[in-house]
Amino acid sequence: MSTGVWLVGARGSVATTSMVGALALRAGLAEPIGCVTEHPDLRGSALPPIADLVFGGHDVVTTCLAKKAETLGEAGVVPARLVAAVADDLAAVEENIRTVPAGGTQAETAAALAADITAFRERLGLERVVVVNVSTTESLPEPRPAHGDLDLLESELAGGGSPLPASSLAAYAAFTAGASYVDFTPSTGARLPALDTLARRGGLPYGGHDGKTGETLVKSVLAPMFAHRNLAVRSWSGLNLLGGGDGANLAAPGPNAAKSASKQRVLAETLGYEPEGNTRIEYVDDLGDFKTAWDLVSFAGFLGVRMRMEFSWHGCDSALAAPLVLDLARLTSAAHRAGRQGPLTELAFFFKDPIGDVPHGLAEQWTLLREFVAGLA
Ligand SMILES: NC(=O)c1ccc[n+]([C@@H]2O[C@H](COP(=O)([O-])OP(=O)(O)OC[C@H]3O[C@@H](n4cnc5c(N)ncnc54)[C@H](O)[C@@H]3O)[C@@H](O)[C@H]2O)c1
Repeated sequence: MSTGVWLVGARGSVATTSMVGALALRAGLAEPIGCVTEHPDLRGSALPPIADLVFGGHDVVTTCLAKKAETLGEAGVVPARLVAAVADDLAAVEENIRTVPAGGTQAETAAALAADITAFRERLGLERVVVVNVSTTESLPEPRPAHGDLDLLESELAGGGSPLPASSLAAYAAFTAGASYVDFTPSTGARLPALDTLARRGGLPYGGHDGKTGETLVKSVLAPMFAHRNLAVRSWSGLNLLGGGDGANLAAPGPNAAKSASKQRVLAETLGYEPEGNTRIEYVDDLGDFKTAWDLVSFAGFLGVRMRMEFSWHGCDSALAAPLVLDLARLTSAAHRAGRQGPLTELAFFFKDPIGDVPHGLAEQWTLLREFVAGLA
């Protein structure tokens, strides 16, 4: 039986690239380059094959999926010939995408979102569904008592209140529908004690937060190097320039703050102290989905001698993110099948701001991931 992947933000760049990619892989038109779960150390029967993933999802806009894929093809984010080759399959996926209902109370919206996920599973005879949030990054919400207590949360919802940000409402709906949940964004998602209770009550696993695809990926390799060589990092400053829907949204102060905090966390966690400096994100329309990041690191060596290193990263954001979305769907589905519930801390390898008390260096995270996959087998 197949695994359903329900994408929140299904008409966005990352979602569309993930679906075009999976369909092209299924048709044997491309190699799984960038898919971590296809690495020889991880590949195996414990995970549902990419060819068996079935896609659906929610979005707030109604842009035609084929049109979005064509735009990505023209921009060079995905090869245009692959978009043309999977056009019929994309049209079939279009049938599985629903618009987020507007106007009702949060309880009504959550019930409608959950009903869409359940109908997707039943109509297509899916074994299980993983909900992956790849929607627009939100600002971090004000803390409220209902976030820490499921009974309080449910009574606020029943009373017509709106205690949850959209990403957490999506996680609430996923768990209510018996689906696992992954947050590829820095938004709050399932990261609330009340939702952790709900997930555990339903025997459901969840993972997050914020896919690690570029500058932070490099940081998670370099920071342990400085730490293990006992060099003193004095400052670490980064500037990220990007366009696209994500870039436009991240130009707003709230989402920008959420993303920047997520990007800088790896340094404090790995080095054990916070060097001077910040990560800045700037919107440059012309760059589209292609991002440039510049980082400057100043550090002190033996006898306090001062040195510097810089790097620049030119990445195609959605092409880097999409294979990880497929990996996370496969891994989370397999964990669900194996009876795991609550946070999947072993997925830290994929995230800028991983859940739980986990190492932030990429090499240690890789070991954790390999052991996790071996355990699933
Ligand atoms: N590309 C990367 O490398 C990368 C890495 C880490 C995290 N992310 C995150 O992934 C997310 C998606 O990025 P993208 O480039 O595809 O952005 P995008 O703007 O192209 O797509 C986001 C989609 O979410 C939809 N959306 C907004 N609010 C929604 C809601 N409440 N419910 C359902 N859908 C909603 C939008 O209409 C849009 O179609 C962003 O939050 C981004 O920060 C991306």
